[in-house]
Amino acid sequence: MWGGRFAGGPSSVMQEINASIPFDKRLWKQDIQGSLAHVKMLAKQDIIESDDANKIIVGLEQIFEEFSENGVPVDLMLEDIHMTIEKRLTEIIGPTAGRLHTARSRNDQVATAFRLWVRDAIDEVLASLHMLQCTIIGRAEENIDVILPGFTHLQVAQPVSLGHHFMAYYEMLRRDVDRFQSARDRLNMSPLGSAALAGTGFDLDRDMTAISLGFDGPMSNSLDAVSDRDFALDYLSAASQSALHLSRMAEEIIIWASQPYGFVSMSDQWSTGSSIMPQKRNPDAAELVRGHSGRITGQLNALMMVMKGLPLAYSKDMQNDKPPVFEAHDLFGLCIISMSGMIETLTVNADNMRKGANSGFSTATDLADWLVRDLNIPFREAHHITGAAVAHCEAQQIELSQISSETLKSIDSRIDGVTLPDLSVEGSVSSRTSYGGTAPNRVREMIQAAKKECGL
Ligand code: ARG
Repeated sequence: MWGGRFAGGPSSVMQEINASIPFDKRLWKQDIQGSLAHVKMLAKQDIIESDDANKIIVGLEQIFEEFSENGVPVDLMLEDIHMTIEKRLTEIIGPTAGRLHTARSRNDQVATAFRLWVRDAIDEVLASLHMLQCTIIGRAEENIDVILPGFTHLQVAQPVSLGHHFMAYYEMLRRDVDRFQSARDRLNMSPLGSAALAGTGFDLDRDMTAISLGFDGPMSNSLDAVSDRDFALDYLSAASQSALHLSRMAEEIIIWASQPYGFVSMSDQWSTGSSIMPQKRNPDAAELVRGHSGRITGQLNALMMVMKGLPLAYSKDMQNDKPPVFEAHDLFGLCIISMSGMIETLTVNADNMRKGANSGFSTATDLADWLVRDLNIPFREAHHITGAAVAHCEAQQIELSQISSETLKSIDSRIDGVTLPDLSVEGSVSSRTSYGGTAPNRVREMIQAAKKECGL
């Protein structure tokens, strides 16, 4: 395709380092889409004759059928998907195929195809994140009244509703969705018509190609248009952030499923056994989500490192933009589906959760709050008194709710002739009615709002 000025061919290693077809074949649909938009515009602008344009369109449609059925042929000699398609077009319609590349370069061609690909990828991600959000809402609703320990420092802190806990992840995913949507909005401008880097002297209609490809309009600087890859970095960054959320969720499932916790049991569908320990049921899928999340962020770093030192406009380094995005997208897709499957099918062991919530004097804050509210004791003093009460219970091996009013009175004489508050985990949870708090009524409200938002 470019051999005019060369006497000899490339060495085999040159071919190998140069070729992107082994991976960029994934752009075939988007490349054909871009070519169809371009050729229709060339004909409308009388840059090529409409007979030729029609031949090219029919040829491209045939290639579309062929590749759908048989996949994309990989020939390193043809370098990349753009040349592979052009070569096949030439075989089908002859030299007329050569008119397709009028007023176009592979630089704006690849920028266009890759943008379209990433846009499709974002749409896929948005659909599967929506599915995961629905799954989470469902499990949250079922488990509003199940109580588990809320932790800080992985030490039992205060009891919380499991519905509330699930909904915390729903909130993270909402922001992830937002990040993908805004990445999509920024991405949705067309580089096509920027040609190699400087634009072209042909009288193009860039609005026409932009609109027909579903873009909001043409990009306004040709140098930027062929060399910008922030749309790919935006995708990777949104995916990394979201995968990080999934990784935290996975980590909790791993902890919850371990025997000393026993908060949840994983379904057979999402567990594996051990080849030596017959009793084992391992949360491999959750561990892999946690691991994949690291690799996804690694791909964000990989592309940032590729791009950071490049002068304008196109450099071949940029061919390395695709593997990180493809790898991250594949891993991320698996992570979302696996999380959804695991959450959907895990069994909640409410008794163990409640036991856990009841341990570690998790309602101590409720006692301190009561001293403040009912006895008008400053919070710092209340904190101190409660600390002494906890120490007493620990020594006596009783729960905080079992402490007598005499004991409390002996700790602080102001606690006299009063009825003690409900220090059960249920009492604690239902008292936390502040906006965003864990009281079941609040959680119910949040779930209703989320259902509405998700069209459920
Ligand atoms: N395969 C190339 C890539 O993905 C296409 C662009 C090639 N452009 C060039 N000027 N050699 O980056």
